[in-house]
Formats: sequence, structure tokens, C-alpha cells
Amino acid sequence: MSRADVHARGRSRPVTARAPAKVNLLLQSGPRRADGYHELLTVFQALSLADDVTAAPAPEWGVSVEAAPRAAAPGEHSTGPALVDLSGVPLDETNLALQAALLLARETGAGSPVHLTIRKGVPVAGGMAGGSADAAAALVACDALWGTGLALDDLAELGAELGSDVPFAVHGRTAVGTGRGERLVPVLTSATWAWVLVPAGHELSTPKVYAEFDALVAAGRVQAGAEPGERLRAVEAALRAGDPRALGAALGNDLEAAACSLAPALTETLAAGRAAGAVGAIVSGSGPTVALLTESTRHARTVAERLRAQGRRALTAVAPAPGAHVLEPVLAS
Ligand code: C5P
Repeated sequence: MSRADVHARGRSRPVTARAPAKVNLLLQSGPRRADGYHELLTVFQALSLADDVTAAPAPEWGVSVEAAPRAAAPGEHSTGPALVDLSGVPLDETNLALQAALLLARETGAGSPVHLTIRKGVPVAGGMAGGSADAAAALVACDALWGTGLALDDLAELGAELGSDVPFAVHGRTAVGTGRGERLVPVLTSATWAWVLVPAGHELSTPKVYAEFDALVAAGRVQAGAEPGERLRAVEAALRAGDPRALGAALGNDLEAAACSLAPALTETLAAGRAAGAVGAIVSGSGPTVALLTESTRHARTVAERLRAQGRRALTAVAPAPGAHVLEPVLAS
């Protein structure tokens, strides 16, 4: 495709794309590989909790961030913008959304400078892949703005260069991830799952959690990648059956011990979630957000209310949500 074709198919108005947060229903980690990453067997599920990224033509490349309006998605009930502390989002070239736009421009030769506005509904550095969602949304928004017309698989492949969770944020829904988590196979699930997310109010660095995991494995306190097939089969069976109690029992995260070792209050949050009625409680990814599975959206609201009554912060979300997609403007009639 020539540059002229690309520009003919692009748009002159700003384009907004939405990409979902995720929880890992299962995260089994092997030992550290030679490249520094861990070989994973994981099951991702995308949540209605999402970030929006608007790409607007601009004289120079730039990025800014703001809190998403409350209750942005159906089934989602925010307790306010204070849930998302924006101070952890870099506004320089280390911002993952900006890196995504620059990468797409470089790869296609199509891009002219954009200013990206990120509206965050996903807790920052919470183990829910908010930064990856921003990168996925930026890829999809810039692809539409510039008319590059890449397939989702191509955008996901580009996204893998930016972070292990970016391909899943492009595809969304529910998927088994292997490799660094970037190789995906969709999993069928007909049910809607209702989650409560409890952000921790502080960050946990993913590399530090993996380093703690390595230390716990070396000390013989955690096993790396035990019984992978069995756990996966239990999760897949529960997803197929649409059975929250079975899925709650099958949830598992090899990084949980490491996250709890670095942030001991997480153990208490997991127990509080179970006591509030959740059918499953897990640290999301490398943490520190705790994800609680409930039996219905109504049950999720009850569990969240019980936790809020104890002074904890709690969000509700439904899953699975779609991957990164353009939000078309509402046309005036
Ligand atoms: O790929 P991403 O940039 O999200 O990874 C952040 C860090 O998390 C890596 O530098 C690595 O320390 C750790 N990581 C890992 N194994 C994975 C994914 C991430 O060790 N499969």
C-alpha cells in the first residue's frame, strides 16, 4: 500500500479507542528463561473496566492523562476518580501508549504526529494491565486515524514488542496465554462473570514480584509451574459450564505468594473478600489489586458494599469484555 493510499483511507478527526483491563484466572509460571522472562501458562479474562485513548492530529507527538468519568461501562460501578491515581502514569517517551503510536508509525511509514489523551478507568500499576490497555487502544486508534488498516493479529504482534500483556488487550474476551503471555488461543465461555476489584492504594512493581517469585522458588517455598495441565482443565471446564463456584475454586496465581510476601496486607484483603461472600479470591497478575469472583452482578454489588462498609475501595466489573476497538462518535440525528 502506498503512502497516498494510506492517507486517503485515514481520518482527519480525532479517533477514540477503548481497551479492557484484565484478570488472570490462572497464572502458572515456570522458572526464569535466559531472556529474563518467565514461561507462563495463563488464562486471561478481559473486564468491562477499561481505558479510552483519543488520538488527535497534532503539531508534535505528546500524551496527557485524565481520570475516566464514573461508571463508564455497563455493569461497572466506580466509587469515584480517587480510585485511579494518575501520578504513576509517565508523560514522556516511556509512556506505553505513546510508544505504541510511534512503533505503528515507524512500521507502516504512515503516521504523522498525534497527541494522545488517555482516560483511565483502570487502576494504575495494579496488576490489571492498564498500561497495556493504553498501548492496545493507541494502536487501534492510530490505525484508524492513519488508515493503515492492519489486521488485529498484526496489531497484537506489534503490541508484543511493547509488553507481554498488550496482545491480550488487543484481542480481549477470554484466552489462554503461553510464552511470555503473548501467544494467545481464545477460550469459549457463554456466561457473563461478575467481578469485584479491590485496588490496594499503592503500586507493586512487576519485575520485583517476579524476582520475589524466583527467590521463593530458590528457597523451596513455591514450586515453579506445577501440574499445569490439570489446573488449566479445571478452569476451562468451569468456564464452559458457566459455574462461578467451580471457577472460583479453580482460580490460581503462582505470583500470589510473592505479591503477598512484598505486600502482606494482601493476605488480609483476600480473606476479607472471601468473608464478604466472594466465591473466589485471587491477586490479579503481579498485584496488588485483589480480584473477587461473585455469583451474579447483584451479588457483586452486595460484596462490594460489604467491603466499602469496612472502609475498603471496591469496583465492580463484568467479563468477558471485547478487546481494543474504536468508539464511533454518536451521530446527531
Ligand atoms: O513484558 P512486560 O514489559 O509487561 O514485563 C515487565 C517485566 O515483568 C519484565 O521485565 C519481567 O521482569 C517480568 N515478566 C516476566 N515474565 C513474563 C512477563 C513479565 O518475568 N512472562
